[in-house]
Amino acid sequence: ITKTDLLKSTGSLLLGVIGDPIGHSKSPVMHQAALSALGLPGSYVPMHVQSGHVGDALAGIKALGFRGINVTIPHKLEVIPYLDHLDETALRIGAVNTIVNDHGVLTGYNTDGIGYVRSLKEEAVSNLKGKKIMVLGAGGAARGIVYALSLESPDCIFIANRTADKAEAMASEWKDLADIRGISMLELPAHLGDMDILINTTSVGMHPNVAETPVDVNLISEKMVVSDLIYNPLQTRLLAESEQKGCKVHGGLGMFVNQGAFALEYWTGMPAPVAAMRSAVLQNMN
Ligand code: ATR
Repeated sequence: ITKTDLLKSTGSLLLGVIGDPIGHSKSPVMHQAALSALGLPGSYVPMHVQSGHVGDALAGIKALGFRGINVTIPHKLEVIPYLDHLDETALRIGAVNTIVNDHGVLTGYNTDGIGYVRSLKEEAVSNLKGKKIMVLGAGGAARGIVYALSLESPDCIFIANRTADKAEAMASEWKDLADIRGISMLELPAHLGDMDILINTTSVGMHPNVAETPVDVNLISEKMVVSDLIYNPLQTRLLAESEQKGCKVHGGLGMFVNQGAFALEYWTGMPAPVAAMRSAVLQNMN
C-alpha cells in the first residue's frame, strides 16, 4: 500500500486501540510518535469498549474508515467472530491484538509473540536454537510467547502455572511444534536448575504490586537469562534481584515496542520507526 493510497479519502490515517480499561495504555503516545516520525498525518486514539459491544465497535471501525486498530485486554478473543480473515499465527494462538481494515474487510493478526521474540533476540539471546526455556504462566500472554518461541527450534519449553491443567493443555495443543511440557508451580524447583532462559508472563510484580516475585529468586542461577514481560515498572523485583545475582536480564519494554512496530507495519506497509516509538514510551513512564 502506498502513502497516497493510505491517506486517500480524508488525507489522514485513522488508527486506535480498543480495550477495557484503556486509559493507561501507552499505545496512543507510541503510535502518535511513530506517525510523526513517518511523516504520516493521522491519529491513534484510545477507545473504551466494554464487553458485549465489540461487534458494534468493529462495525464502527469500518463505517468510520479506520485503517486499523489494536485490541487489548479483555477483547483479544471476543473480536475473532467479527473478523473476515485470521492470519495463521493469530489462528493458532487463538487471540488477536491487531486488525487491518482493507476497504471493509477485516483481518486479525497477533504481533505479541513475534514482538516478544524479536526483542528477546535483539536484547538478550541472539539465537534460541537448542535453548531450554521455562515460561511462568499459561494465560493469554503466555500463549503468544510460547507459540512464537516454539518456531525458534528450542531444545524444550516448560510451562509452569499455578493452575497446572492450563499449562498441560497448552503443551498438548502445540506438541507438533516443539518439545513443550506443562507443569505446576510446585514442580518448578525440580526443573529450573537446567534452564537457560526463564520468562515471566504472569502479572506478578506489576505496578502497583512491585514487591512481589512470581518465583523464589534463590532458585535462579547466575547463568540463566531472566526475562519479564512486565514493563511497568521497567525493572521488576524479579529482574533486579536476578541481575544482582549476575544474570543477564530482559524487561518487557522491547516486547511492547515491537508488537506495536509489527502492527504499524501491517497497517502502513512501512518500516516502523522503532527508536522513536521506544523513546516516546520511555518519556511517558511515570
Ligand atoms: P494475560 O493475558 O496477562 O496472560 P491471563 O490470561 O489472565 O492474563 O493469565 C494470567 C496468568 O498469570 C495465568 O497463568 C495465571 O495463573 P492461573 O492460570 O493459575 O490463574 C497467572 N497469575 C496471575 N496472578 C497470579 C498469581 N498471583 N500467582 C501465580 N500466577 C498468577
